[in-house]
Amino acid sequence: MIGVLVSGEGSNLQALIDAGLPIACVASNRAGVRALERAEAAGIPARAFPLDGYADRAHRDRELADWLILRGVDLVVLAGYMHLLTPGFLDRFRDSVVNVHPSLLPEFPGAHAIDDALAADVPTTGVTVHYVDEGLDTGAVIRQEPVQVEPRDTLIERIHAVEHRLLPEVVRELCGAAR
Ligand code: GRF
Repeated sequence: MIGVLVSGEGSNLQALIDAGLPIACVASNRAGVRALERAEAAGIPARAFPLDGYADRAHRDRELADWLILRGVDLVVLAGYMHLLTPGFLDRFRDSVVNVHPSLLPEFPGAHAIDDALAADVPTTGVTVHYVDEGLDTGAVIRQEPVQVEPRDTLIERIHAVEHRLLPEVVRELCGAAR
């Protein structure tokens, strides 16, 4: 079963829901975000784990991992989740956490990948689905797809469209692979 971690809009979560993938639950680091509403509308258990409720991030991540494991999660999908995960969390989901990122990693890691690609004036950027490790967008690449930067004014929409196709595709394959 899949657990999806979110932080905001949740359009990638929606793509996973629409693909009919087996999502056990959705967790957010922020309360009141659109992604949680999308989960609830789909009848999926959803909960916020805001940092200010815990002594530190490690404690929050321990409770988050407990909550996911209790719901049968064996694959964690980061769909616009904007916090780094602590080593304690990753130890409990070894090689079973994946992320979608709007660039061709290792180019343009971090929270502003699309703006960074525009500023760098590269002809091509893209989308990466990768395993998550302790670093910032540094885990092993699973799948990448290039996206031409021009026309620049539609780049964001075109990157999101690729994300919404690529992430469910890869997650479906991972679900079929000995889980
Ligand atoms: C996506 O572009 C994702 O690649 C990035 O943050 C954005 C999240 O969008 N990490 P959404 O919340 O899935 O709509």
